[in-house]
Amino acid sequence: MGLVVSLDEGKKKGSAKIEPLVELVSADMNRVNELILSKAGSDVAMIPEVANHLISSGGKRLRPMLTLSAARLCGYRGDGHVKLAASVEFMHTATLLHDDVVDESELRRGKLAARMLWGNQASVLVGDFLLGQAFRMMVEVGSLDALDVLSTAAAVIAEGEVMQLSAAKHMSTTEDEYLAVIRAKTAALFSAAAEVGPIIAGLGRAERAAFRSYGTNLGLAFQLIDDALDYGGSSAELGKKVGDDFREGKITLPVVLAYRRGSESERAFWQRALERGEIGEGDLEKAIGLLRSHHAIEDTVERARHFGSVSRDALAPLPESPHKDALLEVVDFCIERAY
Ligand code: IPE
Ligand code: IPE
Ligand code: MG
Ligand code: MG
Repeated sequence: MGLVVSLDEGKKKGSAKIEPLVELVSADMNRVNELILSKAGSDVAMIPEVANHLISSGGKRLRPMLTLSAARLCGYRGDGHVKLAASVEFMHTATLLHDDVVDESELRRGKLAARMLWGNQASVLVGDFLLGQAFRMMVEVGSLDALDVLSTAAAVIAEGEVMQLSAAKHMSTTEDEYLAVIRAKTAALFSAAAEVGPIIAGLGRAERAAFRSYGTNLGLAFQLIDDALDYGGSSAELGKKVGDDFREGKITLPVVLAYRRGSESERAFWQRALERGEIGEGDLEKAIGLLRSHHAIEDTVERARHFGSVSRDALAPLPESPHKDALLEVVDFCIERAY
């Protein structure tokens, strides 16, 4: 079961594919995966144990594919993009290790989260190791502009997570505040992953701006769908627990909308559950019912579709190519995805 709401009249759900992108970058991606495995190594045995637990459970590898494909679309012929792509995935892996500690999540990529097996301390420290390894690879590539963009993203992601911490349990959170959080915690890395493509290819401001916008808006759409799936998806497909956001008191857009559109007694329900954390049997189902009745999940998907359009239009100035087609299609894939 994917989203339970109807996604669109014109478009069949699930028709857009990630496979064209996967196939176009598969040779490069094999090199990225080898590099990831080797750079997760350490004489300190616990480091590869924890890192490989998460790395070997897969993940879509979406962000490094953006880097590889963007570099190719920009005509890059060298091999620095492989190291940059591996850096991008390490930054993502590190944030997942940290995020599951912050969110007290139990499942990640269909397996027990690293923190459930090795504890919070090991998860945080191995995340730090991977972040360090990511920066070493960037330095090896030697592009100060790429280092600038990716290191800025690392700081912005942390800011976003802290911003979210401050907004948690506050039902007064506005849609704008929510957007600021997801722009920082998620869109910043998508943006950087895409922008380092034109950077390493030596292209100028216009191409960098195009990819930055493509990545930012794709990232916003991606997180909006992620937040819709947290109420409307299935744990089996997602590989993480549905309802985590509700149990954590995280104020995501579906909740912001339902709260604003709800009656006095409905608002009292949200305050009890999310602000005071008084959650009992049947409350998640009740929350999902309220989200449905106020079209909150549908409208969250609608917002995602908007940012998806902005993302696709941003690539317009780029030359026609299979890479461009694949990058355009992956936007729709991210909106239609169920995992
Ligand atoms: C999960 O990202 C974290 C979010 C920004 C929602 P992905 O859904 O890309 O995670 P993996 O890498 O495919 O597991
Ligand atoms: C994932 O965010 C981590 C970052 C974007 C930094 P979430 O907490 O919203 O995503 P999941 O549900 O754990 O994957
Ligand atoms: Mg989380
Ligand atoms: Mg989180």
